[in-house]
Amino acid sequence: MAAAACLNLLVINICVISTVCQLANFAAAQGQHSVCQDLQPSPALTPFVDPLPFPKTIDISNGTQLVMGAYKITQKLHSQLPPTTLYAYGTSQTTATYPGPTLQVTRYKAAHVRWENHIPDSETFLITDRTIHWANPKRGGVPIVTHLHGAEVESIYDGNPDAWFTASGETGPEFVTQNYTYPNSQRASLLWYHDHTVGITRNNVLAGLAGLYIVRSPSEEPKNLPSGEYEIPLVVQDKQFWANGSINFPDIGDSPSTHPNWCPEYFGDTVLVNGMVWPYLNVYPAKYRFRLLNAANARFFNLTINEPSLKFIQIGTDSGFLRSPLTLSSLTLAPGYRVDFIIDFSGITPGTKIYLNNTAPAPFPSGDDSLLTKIPSVLEFRVISTPQGVHPPSTSVPQNMNITLPTPAYSLTANVHRKLTLTETDDADGNPVLILLNNRSWVDPVTESPKLGSVEVWDIINLTPDAHPIHLYLIAFLLVQQQEFNQTLYEEGGCSLDSPFGDPQSCFTESPQPPNAEQVGFKDTFITYPSKVSRLWTRWTNREGKPFPMSIRSSSMRETGAASRLQFSNQLTAES
Ligand SMILES: *[C@@H]1O[C@H](CO)[C@@H](O)[C@H](O)[C@H]1NC(C)=O
Ligand SMILES: *[C@@H]1O[C@H](CO)[C@@H](O)[C@H](O)[C@H]1NC(C)=O
Ligand SMILES: *[C@@H]1O[C@H](CO)[C@@H](O)[C@H](O)[C@H]1NC(C)=O
Ligand SMILES: *[C@@H]1O[C@H](CO)[C@@H](O)[C@H](O)[C@H]1NC(C)=O
Ligand SMILES: *[C@@H]1O[C@H](CO)[C@@H](O)[C@H](O)[C@H]1NC(C)=O
Ligand SMILES: *[C@@H]1O[C@H](CO)[C@@H](O)[C@H](O)[C@H]1NC(C)=O
Ligand SMILES: *[C@@H]1O[C@H](CO)[C@@H](O)[C@H](O)[C@H]1NC(C)=O
Ligand SMILES: *[C@@H]1O[C@H](CO)[C@@H](O)[C@H](O)[C@H]1NC(C)=O
Repeated sequence: MAAAACLNLLVINICVISTVCQLANFAAAQGQHSVCQDLQPSPALTPFVDPLPFPKTIDISNGTQLVMGAYKITQKLHSQLPPTTLYAYGTSQTTATYPGPTLQVTRYKAAHVRWENHIPDSETFLITDRTIHWANPKRGGVPIVTHLHGAEVESIYDGNPDAWFTASGETGPEFVTQNYTYPNSQRASLLWYHDHTVGITRNNVLAGLAGLYIVRSPSEEPKNLPSGEYEIPLVVQDKQFWANGSINFPDIGDSPSTHPNWCPEYFGDTVLVNGMVWPYLNVYPAKYRFRLLNAANARFFNLTINEPSLKFIQIGTDSGFLRSPLTLSSLTLAPGYRVDFIIDFSGITPGTKIYLNNTAPAPFPSGDDSLLTKIPSVLEFRVISTPQGVHPPSTSVPQNMNITLPTPAYSLTANVHRKLTLTETDDADGNPVLILLNNRSWVDPVTESPKLGSVEVWDIINLTPDAHPIHLYLIAFLLVQQQEFNQTLYEEGGCSLDSPFGDPQSCFTESPQPPNAEQVGFKDTFITYPSKVSRLWTRWTNREGKPFPMSIRSSSMRETGAASRLQFSNQLTAES
């Protein structure tokens, strides 16, 4: 899929894979959860005994091709846990890590990465359900294909789920090349790369195939931000373990007669940051900038700080800086979300321990307590005295990030207004078996064709019982509003979503609500809530409102396994 398009991240890939999807959430609404989620608890692991590790940073801005492979490795994920078998990205077998190295690029400087597959297994070690739509290589092996989430990139380099390849050289139907070029034309922001293979993305990302990708833009970035050792990448992911260190992953499906192995949503009982279970981070009484990714399969995080005097000073989202910072007590993150924030520890007495905690139910937003992690924390900050001779630089929180947003977004005229429903269908036992966007699945033909350069309003009508992250490829968009409606009445055909709130015919039960704090600013992933219509403002150009700096051949759109494909109706060349 080239690029433009929509897809719900990991949660959605789950659905791509098969069909059931919502069972967990469905059951959660009744105060239960799915039997396949009843995993044996992880062994006891003392929290906060291991320091936060940092993936190595590789700067690829000089244009030299980086060869990045996927390998099978073992890695210690907690000092009390035996080494864990993982799949991991790296430049060699011995240097591959989970998460993969952080790739750093400079805006407008193209980077070249050759992706290789060195995984020797005959199948993915986290069980593959063969009854769902997946890559299914004839000669076996573990297919991989890497997607750079958030990139403005040409189709053939976008990591189409059907562009997979195995170590032995078998390729999927959309495969073109392993040598990818990233133009890096999007704004300074934190992207992430991860496996994207059709049907097993959830397995391979949980197995470890994910890493960060930082786009720097010196002219764009506010001066005086905390940097160097004061800029901290955080890749957050939940996992559950057997006593021998292996990942505990369900192998009995929710609806075993339909899908013997597939469990719709994975929730682990431990939280890892940068590949370590519940680590700690020493900080000086100074400002730190954090670049955080939620790389979980299905878990949302609602982060809080247990020291009330400390706030999250959010300066950026998925797609770059906010116009001005937001001071927040909590940060809600769906899978795929990135957030850029500052915490100012300046006033904290050395010796103090502070916790980054999580208050989000699982599934979000209406789960019961049974799928929460063993402790509600993500990370411990240990505030320590600044050693003699060390002088934390004088950094500041910018008041204005010099970002021009079209405001208010909804005042902009749109050429096209699309409405897309997100639905699920159930099997005879009432287990959801299929998730569809506009009643279409991944294999259906293209239905939506935005014109390059056009402005469109998209309404996503969530008729599932669950919140879903939705990711549009290629562009950054603005969430304009979300509005609740009476789904029962809507499904009875007794009202209209075309009539405004207050009209007797209207399905809406409230006036349009502006996005909540975590959904403000340019985004590439947002949360659809059940029984709400989410309205997006999209512009099918690059972030400057200009043509994309590459030729876009076609693109597709997917959401929860399903979806409409989407194709640009005109072609664009590099110079236009
Ligand atoms: C480009 O950067 C890479 C990674 O930092 C480095 O290994 C390589 O030597 C550099 N190439 C040139 C031509 O400077
Ligand atoms: C891809 O990159 C490799 C390694 O640099 C090179 O040997 C190969 O010729 C390239 N293939 C294509 C199709 O460009
Ligand atoms: C780890 O333990 C689990 C549960 O007993 C078992 O299924 C798995 O095969 C073990 N893994 C290894 C590498 O021994
Ligand atoms: C996140 O947690 C905070 C503190 O518990 C709470 O006030 C807020 O409503 C939560 N946000 C969401 C979206 O649940
Ligand atoms: C935050 O986490 C710490 C450490 O796990 C825990 O002791 C504390 O109770 C948590 N606070 C809240 C409000 O959950
Ligand atoms: C704001 O951004 C514009 C273009 O993006 C740039 O020309 C200008 O110098 C910036 N202003 C400041 C104060 O950084
Ligand atoms: C969805 O598609 C199926 C089969 O293609 C069809 O039977 C059904 O009526 C469609 N539902 C809606 C709401 O259009
Ligand atoms: C939604 O519609 C149903 C069916 O007409 C009705 O029973 C229910 O009271 C409505 N709910 C709300 C919140 O308006």
